[in-house]
Amino acid sequence: MKACITGASSGIGKDMARVLADYGIDLFIVARRSERLKELQSELSEKVSVTAITLDLADEQSCHLLYERLVKEDIDILINNAGFGLAGSFADCDLAKEMNMIDTNIKACHILTKLFLRDFVKRDFGYILNVASAAAFLPGPMMATYYATKAYVQRFTLAIRKELQKQHAHVFVSTLCPGPVQSEFSEVAGVKFRIKGKSSYEVAKTAIDEMFAQRAIIIPGKLMKAAYVCCKVLPLAVLLEVAYHIQKRKQAESK
Ligand SMILES: NC(=O)c1ccc[n+]([C@@H]2O[C@H](COP(=O)([O-])OP(=O)(O)OC[C@H]3O[C@@H](n4cnc5c(N)ncnc54)[C@H](OP(=O)(O)O)[C@@H]3O)[C@@H](O)[C@H]2O)c1
Repeated sequence: MKACITGASSGIGKDMARVLADYGIDLFIVARRSERLKELQSELSEKVSVTAITLDLADEQSCHLLYERLVKEDIDILINNAGFGLAGSFADCDLAKEMNMIDTNIKACHILTKLFLRDFVKRDFGYILNVASAAAFLPGPMMATYYATKAYVQRFTLAIRKELQKQHAHVFVSTLCPGPVQSEFSEVAGVKFRIKGKSSYEVAKTAIDEMFAQRAIIIPGKLMKAAYVCCKVLPLAVLLEVAYHIQKRKQAESK
């Protein structure tokens, strides 16, 4: 089998590459930092074939280039993991950074899902794993755009999954919704988690195993599973208040 992982230069994506390599799956790893990709390539190339592709996926054209580069490779697994967050009140957050986030978290995931899915459906086989977040469960005051991007990823993945189920396709799409994870995410987003995040390897292993088990929503850990249930039952007004205070404290503690 062959897999393409975006955002494989650090954190969850890098560990997903390690997990897939242990399963003997050849890899195409994508991110902007080529040195990081090369390091991972040399770490894993004794186990499987690893191709590093340096691209900025916030650029729409790069998404099309990636697909064209891989179209002849008969990829079996697409993992849309590249993404980042940005903390702060909506009025204060930089518009250009937000647009870049929407391009990376939503647009690239949307384009790549569509292009690869069409081939998977024709072949009647394939897996797509779209990395959302527990942020997809509720609106996120003080991190409004990030939470909204992850809600998009989760909702559109679940809708596509239903379409595929109705067609009896052997194409399986899943969405990963982790809570805090130890990675470069918090530094990039400008937050400090109040609870110790899960290790990126633990999250990656759960994600890959549950993707192969064809689970719709993958939520690593009991705490986040409980949070998911709370978000389903608590009134929206309560959730908004709680989310506001959590984000506000995370941002204050990062300074
Ligand atoms: N850490 C958490 O607490 C957490 C929780 C829930 C969900 N998530 C989600 O998990 C995913 C992975 O995050 P992480 O925690 O592993 O953080 P990370 O260590 O910062 O990794 C983010 C990855 O995305 C890549 N990336 C960012 N912008 C890109 C772009 N324009 N083009 C190509 N690649 C790009 C980065 O590579 P380059 O910088 O080299 O391009 C990096 O490999 C993200 O979608 C994030 O939203 C994280």
